[in-house]
Amino acid sequence: MTAKLKVWVSRPIFPEVLARLAGYFDVQAEAADRSYSAAELKDKLAGVDAALVGLADRVDATVLEGNQRLKVIANLGVGYNNLDIDALTRAGVLASNTPDILNETVADFAWALMLAAARRVGAAERWLRTGQWAGSRLRFDDWMGLDVHGRTLGILGMGRIGQAIARRGAGFDMRVIYHNRSRLPEPLERECRACLVSKPELLQQADFLILVLPFTPENHHAIGAPELAQMKRTAVLVNIARGGIVDDAALAESLREGRIAAAGLDVFEGEPAVHPDLMVLDNAVLSPHIASASEDTRRGMANMAADNVIAALGYGEAAGKPPTPLNPVVMNRWKTPKA
Ligand code: 8YV
Repeated sequence: MTAKLKVWVSRPIFPEVLARLAGYFDVQAEAADRSYSAAELKDKLAGVDAALVGLADRVDATVLEGNQRLKVIANLGVGYNNLDIDALTRAGVLASNTPDILNETVADFAWALMLAAARRVGAAERWLRTGQWAGSRLRFDDWMGLDVHGRTLGILGMGRIGQAIARRGAGFDMRVIYHNRSRLPEPLERECRACLVSKPELLQQADFLILVLPFTPENHHAIGAPELAQMKRTAVLVNIARGGIVDDAALAESLREGRIAAAGLDVFEGEPAVHPDLMVLDNAVLSPHIASASEDTRRGMANMAADNVIAALGYGEAAGKPPTPLNPVVMNRWKTPKA
């Protein structure tokens, strides 16, 4: 009997997904959520055929060096700036991510942050919970926020999550504008009721600016002091994409000085640390990178990562055809399927 292939799971995921994997493989699943140094990751990946990893696990050339065994890295997320795809391809390792399954859930959350920031939900709740309502009479002009309906929704990065956010704009009777590397096909633009504009136009016209860009070196600080300075004083910025796309120090200053009205932020530069200046601002609604965290979607993402491993290693109904590979070219180079 040949020994089972080995799969490492870097963070706790749903037991039924681990059980599915264990139907094919010898699974080593971490019981604690923690981050690994490059040396630790290198060590963990040295003795396995595949791994499910999270965004905190940075898999690059250093980590892959000398690894003759690893065949698959399945990322538990759609964004894969934690993976060096060129290095993985050179090393003959297939990478996969979890696209599409989270689009609607993430779009819901972008709206949650947008509405919460506009209507000051976080600050009002803190005020209530600290007993301040009980001791005061609420004035007629207290806690006034910004209307969302009828305003201009701006989207920077119009991939499928951006489109899902845009579609929701119709329900709030919003004008939708977007900026993207390329224009959407016209039928899709019509469906999203969205109009392509330049980046300066987007910054200047949006009442609500939502960032949905992938994090690449070019997008580092795509929103910094010069961009913030172009926004309306009444504008709300929402980042559900990646920390590092926004210059958090510059954003904190703009919010503190009232140069923009508010922000809803799910991602941060250097997270889980959050810039101390953001932490103290009442006009910033902050959440701990949870935009995809609905029960169904997180389960779906974990299953999709497992599907990629199972199929790529030559098992299951889709053997040899992983559903969402990022560098499928490497599979041509595998001499024999792993089954
Ligand atoms: C994370 C995300 O994967 O998919 C992405 O790119 O940022 C999230 O869905 C999730 O928070 C798990 O870490």
